[in-house]
Amino acid sequence: MDKVRVGIIGFGRMGITHYSIINTHPAVEMTAIADTSSTMLNMIKKYLPAVKMFEDYKDLLNSGLVDAVIICTPSILHYDACKLAGENGIAVFCEKPFTTSPAQALELADLFEGKGLVNQVGYVYRFDVVFNKVKEYLQAGLIGDICHVNAQFLSATISSARPAKGWRAKRENGGGATYEMGSHVFDLMNFFLGKQTKVYGSLLNKVYSDSVEDVCSVDVQYNNTTSCSMHVNWSDYTYRKPMLKLDFHGTKGKIQADLYGLKVFLREENKQFNLPEGWTSTPMNMLPDPCPYYVRGTSFTNQLYAFADAVLANKKSTGCSFREAAETQELIHTIFENNEK
Ligand SMILES: NC(=O)c1ccc[n+]([C@@H]2O[C@H](COP(=O)([O-])OP(=O)(O)OC[C@H]3O[C@@H](n4cnc5c(N)ncnc54)[C@H](O)[C@@H]3O)[C@@H](O)[C@H]2O)c1
Repeated sequence: MDKVRVGIIGFGRMGITHYSIINTHPAVEMTAIADTSSTMLNMIKKYLPAVKMFEDYKDLLNSGLVDAVIICTPSILHYDACKLAGENGIAVFCEKPFTTSPAQALELADLFEGKGLVNQVGYVYRFDVVFNKVKEYLQAGLIGDICHVNAQFLSATISSARPAKGWRAKRENGGGATYEMGSHVFDLMNFFLGKQTKVYGSLLNKVYSDSVEDVCSVDVQYNNTTSCSMHVNWSDYTYRKPMLKLDFHGTKGKIQADLYGLKVFLREENKQFNLPEGWTSTPMNMLPDPCPYYVRGTSFTNQLYAFADAVLANKKSTGCSFREAAETQELIHTIFENNEK
């Protein structure tokens, strides 16, 4: 395939972001967009007249106009849209959280693998340059055996008490701090350490919201050896921008990383990476980043280009697969169940 025809389903905040990125890919032709909101439909008609517009996403998926779709609807709708796309032989990039049920996530992984279709979920931090450097170090054994990880994701998303409205105000729809933010951290741990082996306990708490949790804390074990404490708080009004912080403690050293860079502490010099004993800091902008187009950072672009390139080459995407996202989905639901025990 030398050109891929792409559609977007759900043209809100993420749909618009993804449009602005994927439309710059030299081998992508944007052919179709579906949304139910008259405001968005009027905007599409006015500003994107060359793109075919649909009020019902099923018509888009049955139109024969797309080889691939980017699904950015409220999370409760991901499953139905992914399923019809898969049945129609259409490759899918689906926003996170993948689904709102682990069984549906596994069913979609089976469907897309069975049909050999490219599938990817928008766990965008897998494309962050800092976190990729962390993964390289961990895989090479730079800090020895990983004993413990502390992970925090903090933001001021909900920083005052307001009546709940919109799809984010209900867990069934994919709302709440665990789905919206925690899913990113849980997926990152899957990226670094593989599938979780055990979930020890979880606590969800409210700060300002009346119907969903604002805080999620959980302890998880990986590889039967590594303990990991994760804490998510989207009501931390001290952060202007979301902050994702990771702290890896190993037998030979430590790695501290966030969205701005990383710090490594080694008990002995490492010749492979030319790192001395003691602390070494590497800011994000010192790490190589091939990103051709900057929108809200570089990770969103790297992620969508990886998807389009995989469709064009008819090969597995380098991003988070439906199968990997199903593992994250399982963890999310174990957290909900544990909290309710
Ligand atoms: N990767 C990230 O960092 C990130 C960030 C924010 C949101 N998200 C995810 O992206 C998805 C969308 O979030 P958002 O912030 O763009 O939400 P949004 O509410 O801004 O946009 C959703 C859009 O979907 C449309 N829609 C609703 N029902 C539809 C239907 N049946 N068919 C077609 N369109 C429909 C709405 O009209 C709206 O335009 C969610 O799953 C969310 O969790 C991911």
